[in-house]
Amino acid sequence: MLRTSLSLSRANNLVLLTSTRSVTNKYTPLVAERPIAPLNASSHVSGVIATVFGSTGFVGRYVVSRLGDQGSQVIIPYRGTENGFRHLRVLGDLGQIVPMACDVWKPEQIQEACAQSNLVINLIGSRWDTKNFSMDDTNHVIADNIARGARAAGVRRFIHVSALGAKDDAASEFARTKYLGEIAVRNQYPDATILRPSTLFGFEDHLLNRWASIMRFWPVVPLVEGTADRREAPMSAINLADAIKRCIFDRKTIGKIFELQGSKTYTTKELIDLVRATTYLETKEVDVPFRVMKTLTGVTEHFLRKPRFTSDELVFQQEDNLVSGNYPGLQDLDVTPVDLEAVAVKHIRHYRMPKFLNEL
Ligand SMILES: NC(=O)c1ccc[n+]([C@@H]2O[C@H](COP(=O)([O-])OP(=O)(O)OC[C@H]3O[C@@H](n4cnc5c(N)ncnc54)[C@H](OP(=O)(O)O)[C@@H]3O)[C@@H](O)[C@H]2O)c1
Repeated sequence: MLRTSLSLSRANNLVLLTSTRSVTNKYTPLVAERPIAPLNASSHVSGVIATVFGSTGFVGRYVVSRLGDQGSQVIIPYRGTENGFRHLRVLGDLGQIVPMACDVWKPEQIQEACAQSNLVINLIGSRWDTKNFSMDDTNHVIADNIARGARAAGVRRFIHVSALGAKDDAASEFARTKYLGEIAVRNQYPDATILRPSTLFGFEDHLLNRWASIMRFWPVVPLVEGTADRREAPMSAINLADAIKRCIFDRKTIGKIFELQGSKTYTTKELIDLVRATTYLETKEVDVPFRVMKTLTGVTEHFLRKPRFTSDELVFQQEDNLVSGNYPGLQDLDVTPVDLEAVAVKHIRHYRMPKFLNEL
């Protein structure tokens, strides 16, 4: 007979079954003997209990999926409604994915979300100021709050997702606040692993989908002065999730910063051409002076929930966004970059006009 103790969290949905002791030496099968599950079956336990802040966003679903695959229990702190996290529930077995309402401005709620965990992953970030939160709030102060809460809860390992281009003297507020977020995390966790990914592509990304939706719904594609020749090497969100998974289990990643990018470098103009060729949308480009676009976006970004352009992003895009070469990268994590051109059609086929939908 096996005795079990049952502990129930505040949210009433985190149930941890802990074996206390076996009271007999004789092995009695609880159920009829069955063949042992193959190693790649989903029902196994990694020993990792991870709290993933920001898991309701674009990258979150890839990260939670990878954690679910390898049998980790995942706590999902969320701020909205059930709509924000219900797609994540299916990424693990029953009881493996555990949503918890959490206000990241309340230290006790962060601690509660981290109380059972041995790993915290922070994916919270924003490229624009919202009505309630500035970029400094989201990219820096919240990172600080989470690192402090995780530290107070006794979490051993912290993985923080920053962004390629994060630096203290950056002209862009996004890049500067991302850097401040890294420092705040490092103050609490000197051994935190920090990942700086380049722009990510995937389903619901902010790259291919952005250009494709502009081509489909706008009369022209604005090509902002100074950005046409800007270079970047977008990487797959799957690759970022793989990199995070690698960091969880590889001790060599502790305390390191990784700069991550895809295998091929594109200029903005080349990316637009790639999207055009993939969607068969012939919308023409129009050169727009930087100042005009900055003024326009400075007005519109305050009214839109997900602005296509923001004034700070225009500043960010005045410089190339490539790895510096001073930090390890994807190859050091044994992750093979996904080829953007090979998968782009999967992500943006639905923007095509009906007559082209079935074209390869
Ligand atoms: N996507 C990219 O191309 C890219 C490139 C480089 C770096 N990154 C970094 O990767 C991380 C994940 O990016 P993503 O594309 O998944 O972003 P996303 O889709 O915008 O998701 C952001 C996540 O952060 C949460 N969040 C944002 N502001 C918050 C606030 N004020 N309080 C509490 N939660 C807040 C969101 O919660 P809700 O769902 O409730 O809104 C969501 O879960 C971010 O740190 C981002 O800076 C992304």
